[in-house]
Amino acid sequence: MIIDKLLPTDLFRGKTAFITGGGSGINLGIAKNFAALGANVAICSRNQGKLDTAAAELRKLGAKVCTAAADVRDPAAVAAALAKSAQELGPADVVVSGAAGNFLCEAEKLSPNGFKTVVEIDLMGSFNVARGAFEQLKQTRGVIIFISAGLSWLPYTLQLHAGAAKAGIDNMMKNLALEWGAYGIRSNSIAPGYIGDTEGTSKLAGGPVLDAVLESTPLGRLGTVDDIGQAAVFLASPLASFITGTIAVVDGGHYLGGSALLNAAQRQVAAAATASGSTS
Ligand code: HXC
Repeated sequence: MIIDKLLPTDLFRGKTAFITGGGSGINLGIAKNFAALGANVAICSRNQGKLDTAAAELRKLGAKVCTAAADVRDPAAVAAALAKSAQELGPADVVVSGAAGNFLCEAEKLSPNGFKTVVEIDLMGSFNVARGAFEQLKQTRGVIIFISAGLSWLPYTLQLHAGAAKAGIDNMMKNLALEWGAYGIRSNSIAPGYIGDTEGTSKLAGGPVLDAVLESTPLGRLGTVDDIGQAAVFLASPLASFITGTIAVVDGGHYLGGSALLNAAQRQVAAAATASGSTS
């Protein structure tokens, strides 16, 4: 982590970040970046065991931590988690809606319940979090950040369900920017690319797919959880005080994938031409 060497370690002192999916992966990475800058951190996920392990890591960074087990599909459970966080840490200044579920499945084999399950976790879950956090965010004139993905605006094969859910999230994010701007609440999304050492990338990008990801990413590497944590910190900080209604794409340029593949082929042609002494 480099954030505490680049930004003041008291940037979020006295502020609270509430993060769903915060027990692991990208969302735990986000939690750690806030913790390293002095924030109190509430993490919420279905699995209390994962939350306990994550909380120990966050406390080592000096954070005051609240854990709240809840399934984001259950609005009452989300409301209870937010209430517990507010009671222990004060109202949330930053809310990160990162809990997600996903699997690869051909459209023609996807069951209605499979589609519904991912939409309920990602899209309905994000609504439940945003709606449940409104009074706290209104009080703090806070920030909400949704974790989206490139498949929100580009189709990815075997990802119809997740793409539909993420597109819905980004549309909702913009509506909230529009309506809640009046309360000083900012609403943005982060669209991570493929991030190393996460359940998402190991589930979705095995073997040759991983090679294709690297080939089609101009920066030529997988992302890290800190890449996403740093973007979240920026969006939540006063540095971004006029930024709302946007999607921050943090993917090493992977969204340019089609062009990146053509570009790589073009370079091969140019290199071959140079090697053969041809000028055309
Ligand atoms: C087809 C599947 C399936 C699969 C589940 N289903 N897995 N269908 N292929 N591999 C179907 C089931 O058959 C069932 O429908 C329905 O989905 C619900 O399944 P359950 O197992 O009962 O659901 P649940 O226990 O709630 O689990 C939810 C889950 C699970 C999404 C299926 O994988 C999960 O909880 N994942 C959480 C962690 C996770 O996935 N993280 C990675 C996020 S990555 P039927 O019809 O049989 O009843 C991410 C990144 C996106 O979001 C962008 C990357 C670039």
